[in-house]
Amino acid sequence: MKVQVRETKNPKTKPDPSKVPFGVAFTDHMFLMEYDDEKGWHDARIVPFDNIALSPAAVVFHYGAEVFEGLKAYRTPDGQVQMFRPDANISRMNDSAERLCLPQLNEEMVMTALKLFLSVEKEWVPDQYGTSLYIRPVLFATDEDLSLHGIHHATFMIIACVVGSYYKNGLQPVELLIEKDDVRAVRGGTGYAKCGGNYAAAARAGEKAEAKGYSQVLWVDGVERKYVEEGGGMNVMFVWDGKLVTPELNGSILPGVTRRSILTIAQDWGMKVEERKITVDELLEACKNGEVQEAFMCGTAAVVTPIGGFAWGEEKVVVNYNKIGEMTRKIYDTLTGIQWGIKKDPYNWTVKVD
Ligand code: COI
Repeated sequence: MKVQVRETKNPKTKPDPSKVPFGVAFTDHMFLMEYDDEKGWHDARIVPFDNIALSPAAVVFHYGAEVFEGLKAYRTPDGQVQMFRPDANISRMNDSAERLCLPQLNEEMVMTALKLFLSVEKEWVPDQYGTSLYIRPVLFATDEDLSLHGIHHATFMIIACVVGSYYKNGLQPVELLIEKDDVRAVRGGTGYAKCGGNYAAAARAGEKAEAKGYSQVLWVDGVERKYVEEGGGMNVMFVWDGKLVTPELNGSILPGVTRRSILTIAQDWGMKVEERKITVDELLEACKNGEVQEAFMCGTAAVVTPIGGFAWGEEKVVVNYNKIGEMTRKIYDTLTGIQWGIKKDPYNWTVKVD
């Protein structure tokens, strides 16, 4: 793949990574390429980070044909830069694209693009513990056509920002409101795809939960409205009677890369792992009687977020005295240890950037 590189003449001042809020401190450049049925993917380029021009009729604005990914690059103690499981993100992006009728990406091409982009932005990868470069690939339809049809034109873009903790209180437990009215997704819908529409549909409930003092919602299934699905933007897990328990992937839950990594690590520790249906009633009961010893959310942006309690209407339950649990801490330390190159990576999940 030929990639044109045009470097910025006005590099930005780099922020203090431990102080920046999540998702606002963008690097100097971005990667772009275009698709059409005739030429396939073409015009790959790395250019200064800037606004892009799109037709007001572009399908993405009207029908939301868009998918994205989130992955991170880390600075290891010896100064190298490495990504965590980029292949898993690229492959999920193609699964999401298939669901939204967007063109498939050539996975090798995207890996090359990521490595080249990071070699240009290497200086932006922070070296303070707990910080990283959050990489956001995004793919969207650009056809200028308001009729409903398959996609024939698209853009693929990579941008990145320097990040510290997703939550300003770091590893402090958060409280979740189990959502009773809105649903995030239904089976047969787009729940398993990482598409913007899922997040847009989730925003109202998230805002309402925040206004009531909760960190975010816990979604239940959209059909029977009784099974736990995922947190707002992250998967959810429980240390339940010594086992690691998480809702099974059923088509409406995002198949998280962090989720999958944690399940693998826990299994290797000899922990029993269960992916199964979990009802809200049994979860609340198990929190009350102490069978649920710990609860946490997991995702690329926040890695691991301990859950200190749940509310379901008027009912409230506390988990682990609203403190981070031992297993949650161990999982966080192990995963971030691999990501930051502090611990050995027995899985070959990390990919070095030259
Ligand atoms: C991620 O964890 O990478 C996500 O895309 C979730 C988003 C809410 C930041």
